[in-house]
Amino acid sequence: MEKRVAVLPGDGIGPEVTEAAVKVLEVIGRRFSHTFHVSYGSIGGAAVDLFSNPLPAETVTLCESSDAVLLGAVGGPKWDNNSSELRPEKGLLAIRKHFDLFANLRPVKAVPSLLHASPLKEEVAKDVDMLIVRELTGGLYFGEPSRRTDKSAVDSLVYTREEIERIVERSFEIARLRSGKVASVDKANVLESSKLWRQIVEEKKKAYPDVEVEHMLVDSTAMKLITNPAQFDVIVTENMFGDILSDEASVITGSLGVLPSASMGHDGFGLYEPVHGSAPEIAGLGLANPAAAILSVAMMLHYSFNMKAEAAAIEEAVNTVFEDGFYTADLVEPGQRVLSTREWTSKVLDELDVQSVSNSIMFSYV
Ligand code: IPM
Ligand code: MN
Repeated sequence: MEKRVAVLPGDGIGPEVTEAAVKVLEVIGRRFSHTFHVSYGSIGGAAVDLFSNPLPAETVTLCESSDAVLLGAVGGPKWDNNSSELRPEKGLLAIRKHFDLFANLRPVKAVPSLLHASPLKEEVAKDVDMLIVRELTGGLYFGEPSRRTDKSAVDSLVYTREEIERIVERSFEIARLRSGKVASVDKANVLESSKLWRQIVEEKKKAYPDVEVEHMLVDSTAMKLITNPAQFDVIVTENMFGDILSDEASVITGSLGVLPSASMGHDGFGLYEPVHGSAPEIAGLGLANPAAAILSVAMMLHYSFNMKAEAAAIEEAVNTVFEDGFYTADLVEPGQRVLSTREWTSKVLDELDVQSVSNSIMFSYV
């Protein structure tokens, strides 16, 4: 197959981790006889510096002519005092909105070789295998009015029926491919938007009798993610709750540095990015964990290109490198050797060269 991939490295550790992910994509292309045309574009603070725009028109055009987008991370202290239009994060929100990427999939799965780094007890974390389905183009992030003076500030939490219906349906479809269990997370004891959300979940579930749905309040979900995270399979929730809960859930597995994500719309086009941020304090030091970016490529192959064996090969290679005891700074135990971003990536590339494809898959993406 021949595919065009737009790579937007962004800020902080974004360039380092996307460099690693592109190397993996190249190896997959060679091994499975695909041609991946990789082109680079600017986003975030890097684009503010070059174009005075966190999402320049050139970048949008590049993505429009691509089959999928791989993004590193955006943001950093350099741009923290910028006006909201010139903040790096604005570029990320704008690209999600432009391509109507309403469904953000964030898989969180415990891996035995990383459990030592989990802040939870091993027996609590070991059976975790959940997929957070976060609504990505509505809610507080995009609601109008949104304004601030020195005396007051307003953000609006707006959801339309259509926006809720499509994400709820997507989560039910995904649940059917997993264990058939959905936790719908809201704050329906307080918020009107959550009451509508809950009502629509109730309506929609009639068409999915095979899916078991439980409503949960977001505060109690935050607690259960710590006390008994293994009870969750698919979690579906609105934009802001999903942002917060996915960071919380991500560390259960040991490090935010290993969690990939996919942002999808209605067709196969998607934007793939690590759940972690730009980590400006370690940028350029070779300390970043490239696993999340590499696994985001696996999600791209799986979801946008339907290359399931190729995606599984990446997941397996990453898993093997962890099992062999190779870690970047975020995951090492005292006394262990720290591998740099590039050294760790080389281990994955070597593994991809020698591995024989088996059936062990690290993350269940579907
Ligand atoms: C994420 C990030 C973004 C978000 C920021 C960078 C705008 O935290 O993808 O989770 O809040 O969605
Ligand atoms: Mn976030």
